[in-house]
Amino acid sequence: MNKTKTLIADMFDPEQFQVIGHHLIDLLTNQLSDQIAGNASVFNWRAPALEDINWQQPLPITATFDAKQLIDKLQTQVLSNNLAIHHPHNLGHQVATPLPIAALCDLVASLTNQAMAVYETGPSATMLERQVIRWLSTLIGWEQSEGVLTSGGAQANLTALLAARQHTAQSNVWKDGIADHQRMCILASEYAHYSVARAAGIMGLGTNAVIKVAADREGRMDIHALEMAYEEAIANRLHIIAVVATAGCTPTGSIDPLMEIGDFCQLHDLWLHVDGAHGASALLSEQHRESLKGIELADSVVWDGHKLLYMPATVSAVIFRERKNAYAAFAQDASYLFQGNTHEEEAYNISYRTLECTKRMMGLKLWVAFSLYGVEGLAALVDHAFLNAAIFAEKLQDAADFELLIKPQTNIVCFRHQPSILELEALNQHQVKLRKDIVESGAFHLTQVEIHGEIWLRTTLMNPFTESKHMDSLIDLISALSSQAK
Ligand SMILES: Cc1ncc(COP(=O)(O)O)c(C=O)c1O
Repeated sequence: MNKTKTLIADMFDPEQFQVIGHHLIDLLTNQLSDQIAGNASVFNWRAPALEDINWQQPLPITATFDAKQLIDKLQTQVLSNNLAIHHPHNLGHQVATPLPIAALCDLVASLTNQAMAVYETGPSATMLERQVIRWLSTLIGWEQSEGVLTSGGAQANLTALLAARQHTAQSNVWKDGIADHQRMCILASEYAHYSVARAAGIMGLGTNAVIKVAADREGRMDIHALEMAYEEAIANRLHIIAVVATAGCTPTGSIDPLMEIGDFCQLHDLWLHVDGAHGASALLSEQHRESLKGIELADSVVWDGHKLLYMPATVSAVIFRERKNAYAAFAQDASYLFQGNTHEEEAYNISYRTLECTKRMMGLKLWVAFSLYGVEGLAALVDHAFLNAAIFAEKLQDAADFELLIKPQTNIVCFRHQPSILELEALNQHQVKLRKDIVESGAFHLTQVEIHGEIWLRTTLMNPFTESKHMDSLIDLISALSSQAK
């Protein structure tokens, strides 16, 4: 064999794959058990500019095939500098503590590389996706719906809003643009995710086209404020594309009153989009599904797998109650897809319905998780997360010098430390400093959020390994840091 041939054969060598694969699995298994046990810190924090200095190696030119060096580098440079996602002190963002089996499915997805743009490039991948969408639809309470998996909730929101615009517009805006159309707007809670405004920007409406509807004290969209926003939009001759309700809003995890908003939308013939990226998984739980009552009235729903379905990033579902609307986002008229047998097959070509052309096989991990653990298993994760949030909230209420923002409706808990009567600015700075010190120490990961000028510490109780004692440690740590600062 000449050198090129040898090189190529070695790169694809199945034996090498197996050997390195076993090493990697061993490495990851050790890391997983260490993290679950809460060994070491949640972060090995280094400021990004400093860390960047360690990543200035010259471009590698020669093939080394040095698997040992590779494993060492993975261990010392990559894994040890990760945020320890399975560590019980990881209370930061709404990022899933992924199910290990789902990570293995991602390996399958990578090696088999089913491109999925059209059925032929991923027959089983296409079917897996359709199956998973049907399961999620069943949980919403829909029978004839259809949807797709996308890379993330932001893209899923964009897809839903594009469909809403196409469905409600008085002309074919997909083809002719919006220049000659009546000005458009979207009504969404002040706590709606920024991807809604971003979608409006991408759609050429301008981010100001999202009219912010005030929320009540519990962070839920105020229905009277919605009525007023609607009246004002009509008076201003705006064309309302959609009302966006959020089930599990990002800052506080609050769930908008879906039934009331759904009734309102039906009354006024408005498209209801429910951004359930975070909270739709409450549908799995017998205990919590009631909080999403009314979701079935939506025209479209977004549901992230990589949040409370415990999948690795990324996998999100955007589902449309009416099948035809699933084709509206990226097509002027999808009716031809359903005329006769020849075209019916086009419905299996997923790229008609997504921003992506080539797309990763995202359905497998969800299909495997549902197949192995059932609704029962996945619901247990949600129930546990929500219970943990309730427990932590109670502890904060009982602790001296802590203030809870609101009783958690999902698994997000916002609070602040209030050591003595501080002016707002000083109080805000106190939270910022606490968070910075805690994160940089590697003790815990948590976030902060600004609500009406007030800064609150924010924790997301996603991690199934976080226990009462870990919550106590965080409260103790904050109290200790505050005393030191005095
Ligand atoms: C309510 C809500 N919608 C949408 C998104 C965006 O989802 P993704 O990060 O999957 O793009 C988020 C992200 O946190 C969210 O909380």
